[in-house]
Amino acid sequence: MKDKIPVAQPDIGKEELDNITSAVQSGWVSSKGPFIQQFENNFSSYIGSNYGVSSSNGTTALHLALAALGIGKGDKVLVPTLDFISVANVVTYVGAQPVFVDSNPDYWCIDPTKLTIDKQTKAIIAVHLYGHPCDMDKILSIAKEHNLLVIEDCAEAHGAEYKGRKVGNFGVISCFSFYGNKIITTGEGGMCLTDNEELAQRIRILRDHGMNPHKRYWHDVIGFNYRMTNLQAALGVAQVRKIDLQIEKKRKIAGEYNNILKDISGVTLPPEMSWAKNVYWLYSILIEGFSRDKLIDYLEKSGIESRPFFYPSHLMPPHRIDLSLPVAERLSSIGLNLPSGPMISKDQIKEISEHIQKFMTI
Ligand SMILES: Cc1ncc(COP(=O)(O)O)c(C=O)c1O
Repeated sequence: MKDKIPVAQPDIGKEELDNITSAVQSGWVSSKGPFIQQFENNFSSYIGSNYGVSSSNGTTALHLALAALGIGKGDKVLVPTLDFISVANVVTYVGAQPVFVDSNPDYWCIDPTKLTIDKQTKAIIAVHLYGHPCDMDKILSIAKEHNLLVIEDCAEAHGAEYKGRKVGNFGVISCFSFYGNKIITTGEGGMCLTDNEELAQRIRILRDHGMNPHKRYWHDVIGFNYRMTNLQAALGVAQVRKIDLQIEKKRKIAGEYNNILKDISGVTLPPEMSWAKNVYWLYSILIEGFSRDKLIDYLEKSGIESRPFFYPSHLMPPHRIDLSLPVAERLSSIGLNLPSGPMISKDQIKEISEHIQKFMTI
């Protein structure tokens, strides 16, 4: 039987294996060891940030960011409702309240014209969704006016650019995920980037049980064990070397899909605003006039994996509120992520697109 075409898969080669073998052989298998600092340095300088503090995953990176900024009980944090759930969850981890915001219909990220701000609002998490950047100028200008902290969530947008500058350079802290389906991976893994030395140090301390860096086993604050391991970082060091190549592949995959799907009525192609470089983390389209869910089943039966867009967070049981955020709700019900892993071939893209074409004409 033919293997299914997966939505995503990691591209792991000899250099990754060599690094992991060397980490295992060195005995540094936990969260001490040379690959960690190397990965932090290499990734932060790739993005253009002064400090990189790695963590066990992208969710813990976001949690560390909020904790380091002192966001907590009584505070509100603006988040896009159309997003992976961990963003809303981390706000509640620190005791703050997520305030859900609708999406921009053109590029699907948080809509800066729909922010509800009051005296309790302390921060905004700008999530660069599915590889497309947020409108950072608008977000930064509103944040300045209302004295809000801006945190970027770049989990899905390694190397994406806003007006020629990589995302991860706009917020006071930016957070990344290196989960297996991300543009580069460490298996599980995350990182906070910042240009602020004091914040970087606070994140490092919180990541390591709140331990005083100059006095072992003395804990000044309550922290967490959110450290990355040397094994994860060994993988990361090899992956950072390939990051530009992976982004090029993602953009090529998107171009090949676009060429075929552009002529199918009922399919909206992924956005790329004039000010944006989309890295197409997952190639994402909208399906109108046909059932997106029936298309998912149809593709599944043809051996093609696909994914519906995220559900809006404000509709999930733990966060549910009686609020209508129509753009996000609509995008969520018609959005579809297609296979876009780095190993996908041109023939497979053609096959997938032809299946979509066939479905739309049944
Ligand atoms: C936008 C966004 N933020 C945060 C995360 C959380 O990252 P992780 O899965 O590494 O905890 C994800 C998920 O992968 C994500 O897509």
